[in-house]
Amino acid sequence: MYIEKLNVLNFKNYSSEEISFSPEINLVTGLNGSGKTNLLDAIHCLSLGKSAFSTQEQHLILTNQPFLSVLGFFQKTGKSYEVRYDYQKGSKKVILLDGKAYDRLSDHIGRFPVVLIHPDDQKIIREGSEERRKFFDQLFCQIDHHYLTQLMHYMHLLKQRNALLKEWKEGITKKDFILLDTYDTPLLRLNEELHNKRKQYTAHFLTYFLLQYKKLTEDKEQMNITYHSDLFKPDFSGLFKKNRERDQIMERTTLGIHKDDFLFTLGEQTVKHYGSQGQQKSFVIALKLAQLEMMREFSKTEPILLLDDIFDKLDDERIHHLVHNIAGTTSGQIFITDARPERSMEIIRLLKREIRIFHINKGTVVSDQ
Ligand SMILES: Nc1ncnc2c1ncn2[C@@H]1O[C@H](COP(=O)(O)OP(=O)(O)O)[C@@H](O)[C@H]1O
Ligand SMILES: [Mg+2]
Repeated sequence: MYIEKLNVLNFKNYSSEEISFSPEINLVTGLNGSGKTNLLDAIHCLSLGKSAFSTQEQHLILTNQPFLSVLGFFQKTGKSYEVRYDYQKGSKKVILLDGKAYDRLSDHIGRFPVVLIHPDDQKIIREGSEERRKFFDQLFCQIDHHYLTQLMHYMHLLKQRNALLKEWKEGITKKDFILLDTYDTPLLRLNEELHNKRKQYTAHFLTYFLLQYKKLTEDKEQMNITYHSDLFKPDFSGLFKKNRERDQIMERTTLGIHKDDFLFTLGEQTVKHYGSQGQQKSFVIALKLAQLEMMREFSKTEPILLLDDIFDKLDDERIHHLVHNIAGTTSGQIFITDARPERSMEIIRLLKREIRIFHINKGTVVSDQ
């Protein structure tokens, strides 16, 4: 799958641009702050229906404009598709496929898979469990639509249950344990189902990950990813019921898959505390390339790979090795941003794939062709 053409209107620092891409490699250059990352984010919006960086749509609109529109022309298994992402201030965003708006935005997820590798990805290792759940959930949601709907249902019930516990504590409503049961029964079922899927998918992911990590480094250290969950405890449903008292005091649901974590280790130690900067960098790239391989397997289409500033602080030899590995992982469309392309250009040329180069200057794009 690849994106042939992109039209951006009032998106971040772009007022109106039409850009045609190479189905192989697109190298995006320009000074810091020119709009390289924003261009990749526009493609991210078309694929996942949301920005990779801003949670609020209003921040995506060009300053002082009332709306934005991003239009992408995709080629997938010999067919053309037109995906459009529209947002007007004060309204709900709309995603349209071939001119028809989706009833549910979630129906779009997974159809046009992209994988973004970005310097901020380090937070998957460094920050709390939420970042790791987000990473794995985003992957599992893209490969399994049922997982996505189950997870949305779970989060909805969890929010309602927590609101109820808060009302009880504040004395707004009288305690009604039959009402609590109406949340707990489906929550228990969804906990089991989502836990089993996470278990199964993490094991599958690990095989891809270990191969990627091995290819990226000369490391002899044994890297591992272990899935941690309350659901591994014996008699989870009994424990969940017993925990009701504690939940009432805490005003939230203290057990369940929303507390899951994925532990990253090297040997006996955690990657977060003992991994060198280089090991952490390779670890994250291996996570993302494993994501790409798993998405390809399940979606039966080659995802688009967006590489944002990944050569920063790497010497030529490491860039060479990384580019070689990426090329060995995907034959699909790749976008690479680099503020200093003179170092990466020669290495990328060695791949002998069609390269188109774009120079960005304050939201204006000029192509070499
Ligand atoms: N909603 C917006 N309206 C106008 N400009 C924006 C908006 N959001 C971000 N920008 C601008 O985009 C620029 C950053 O672009 P970015 O793609 O991150 O640059 P880089 O080329 O360094 O990756 C900044 O100058 C920022 O002010
Ligand atoms: Mg950038």
